[in-house]
Amino acid sequence: MFSKLAPLQRFAVLSRGAHSSVASATSVATKKKSRPGPPTSDYIFERESKCGAHNYHLLPVALERRKCIYLWDVEGRKYFDFLSSYSAVNQGHCHPKIVNALKSQGKKLTLTSRAFYNNVLGEYEEYFTKLFNYHKVLPMNTGMEAGETACKLAHKWGYTVKAIQKYKAKVIFAAGNFWGRMFSAISSSTDLTSYDDFGPFVPGFDVIPCNDLPALESAFQNPNVAAFMVEPIQGEAGVVPDPGYLMGVREFCTRHQDLYIADEIQTGRWLAVDHENVRPDIVLLGKALSGVLWDDDIMLTIKTGKHGSTYGGNPLGCQVTIAALEVLEEENLLPSDVVTAVRGKEVLNAIVIKETKDHNGLLAKPTHGDIIGFAPPLVIKEDEIRESSEIINKTILSF
Ligand SMILES: Cc1ncc(COP(=O)(O)O)c(C=O)c1O
Repeated sequence: MFSKLAPLQRFAVLSRGAHSSVASATSVATKKKSRPGPPTSDYIFERESKCGAHNYHLLPVALERRKCIYLWDVEGRKYFDFLSSYSAVNQGHCHPKIVNALKSQGKKLTLTSRAFYNNVLGEYEEYFTKLFNYHKVLPMNTGMEAGETACKLAHKWGYTVKAIQKYKAKVIFAAGNFWGRMFSAISSSTDLTSYDDFGPFVPGFDVIPCNDLPALESAFQNPNVAAFMVEPIQGEAGVVPDPGYLMGVREFCTRHQDLYIADEIQTGRWLAVDHENVRPDIVLLGKALSGVLWDDDIMLTIKTGKHGSTYGGNPLGCQVTIAALEVLEEENLLPSDVVTAVRGKEVLNAIVIKETKDHNGLLAKPTHGDIIGFAPPLVIKEDEIRESSEIINKTILSF
């Protein structure tokens, strides 16, 4: 079974090629360097192992090039990318329009202090808020920061609007959540591998079972609760809540005057909450989109000087985000229902399988234990989905 605690050699690479077994990075690191000439995979494994932090379970694949949904390793082997850089390249790798936006803005203005206005931030804000129909957006650099911002704002809103006693505010989370690796995110985590040995943790976070409306209602009896933060689909845990759950969350949050924070950082469509026509109070976006969305009544509880970021809202990032969103719109990259799968919606799906060491031409990675998430770029075409499904089938049948 795949497991976050499993040794490196237990991870699977569904990759094309004649290799029948996957060498572990550890064993590769002990091999002789393959210099001179362009770096080989073995050389790259060894160098990273020697000089880099060992904080990732690395698959033994050294990537060099990309085109749309495909990746090639340094030996020229081709792979379907079914990880999409953890869903951050939904538009496909190095999309020309996005690369052009990067190049052209990179020559003009990349970063200004937020002490000044610039001519791009407002354009991004206007585009983003109109597209998602919220009053305000706050651009952030990472999903983790978006989550932190939402929790911070929920506290402030709790004291200002809900009259929660100062410093008693609570935020509720669903078990199985994943929103990053920093202290606040691991403080709400139920994954031992995320939080073990890192305490003490951030106080004021309570965790209830996912997909459990009665548990939510009971948690909301505490008058100090300010918000419930939940992923519409748990990408890491591979959990898709029952139909009606998101609607129920909305109803309970409204009834108990609590904020509904939707962590949409890894979810597709425009928003995954659209599946149930639900409008959260705060929406966290990241990866291929980026930003925190909310309405004036919540956002305006934060006053000037109370929150910020050196890079958040930089002109380069804003221009790239506009291009990235335009690509989604222009190329109609909202996923279709070509694949409805085992656990998931549209092209964000997961299967639970046994361990394999075969290479069949597709890169994917276990999210949790024996669950493999499949998150191909949204630009994937029907014939490519069929071809990649055959690879997945072949791999499953090979057991
Ligand atoms: C649902 C969800 N929220 C938040 C995050 C954190 O995003 P980042 O790695 O950009 O900080 C992730 C990262 O995978 C995620 O999947």
